[in-house]
Amino acid sequence: MASYCGLNGAILNQKEAGLGLTDLAILRGYGIFDYFLFKYGQPLLEEQYFNRFFSSAEKMHLKAPLSPGQLSRHLRELIAANGQSQGAIRLVLTGGESPDGYTPGQANLIVLLHPYPQLPESFFQEGVALITHNFQREWPEVKSINYLTGIKLLPRIRQAGALEVLYHHDGILLESVRSNIFLITENGELLTPHSNILYGITRRSVMDIAEGQLPIIEREVRLEELFRAREAFITGTNKSVMPVVRVDGQAIGDGRVGPWSKKLKEDLERYREGYYHQQM
Ligand SMILES: Cc1ncc(COP(=O)(O)O)c(C=O)c1O
Repeated sequence: MASYCGLNGAILNQKEAGLGLTDLAILRGYGIFDYFLFKYGQPLLEEQYFNRFFSSAEKMHLKAPLSPGQLSRHLRELIAANGQSQGAIRLVLTGGESPDGYTPGQANLIVLLHPYPQLPESFFQEGVALITHNFQREWPEVKSINYLTGIKLLPRIRQAGALEVLYHHDGILLESVRSNIFLITENGELLTPHSNILYGITRRSVMDIAEGQLPIIEREVRLEELFRAREAFITGTNKSVMPVVRVDGQAIGDGRVGPWSKKLKEDLERYREGYYHQQM
């Protein structure tokens, strides 16, 4: 655990910092968050994550106590206070202390630092399995703190030897609980669902990187198309490009990590390194 966290712009000892018990994040699960990386002391794609964070806040009628400029300075102070050169940053904006346990109050802004995500190399070498579930997230474009369905399904996910749950809505493919999904189709296109999802920052980076390398298609995607795909992978800030080789026990493609999943992961890692170095 990091030594210091941020609370409404103040840097506090994390063990001592706390929220009031009537905060709506606790009473009703009302709040939003975002999560991004930093390395060499530099946040990754800060502007894109900030845009999503402040847009989620606005859509949920929450007002952050810091402006984007103030938050950016606050983050750097927090990184310096913790003496951490790389890691992940979690921004959380809560519904605030509520007078009646229902009406939002003044939103509380929490900033937490986590270690840089380290996933087992086998996930990338051998690929991961997913299970499907019929579910549409409420306000899909908002990064709300509500992960009730995904967390409730953890025992089923573990029992199936899967990493995550992949949501579809009545057969329309959406996203996984904490990542976006891409397919390499039978025709060699890069295909990803276009609506009713959280627009992942990694999803955007991967599409930018893939530009000119293969045709990119964003449209409604049916679940059956996943089972006919040559390859599938999920993308997320802490997952990079992660190959998916099994869904509901069925092999995707030949059941092995495909060349595009490997290539786009390497390209993304290079792009991220290049970005950090540019900021230094
Ligand atoms: C529902 C959902 N979809 C997609 C993503 C991936 O987004 P990003 O690439 O910005 O991490 C996340 C990340 O947590 C998520 O919660």
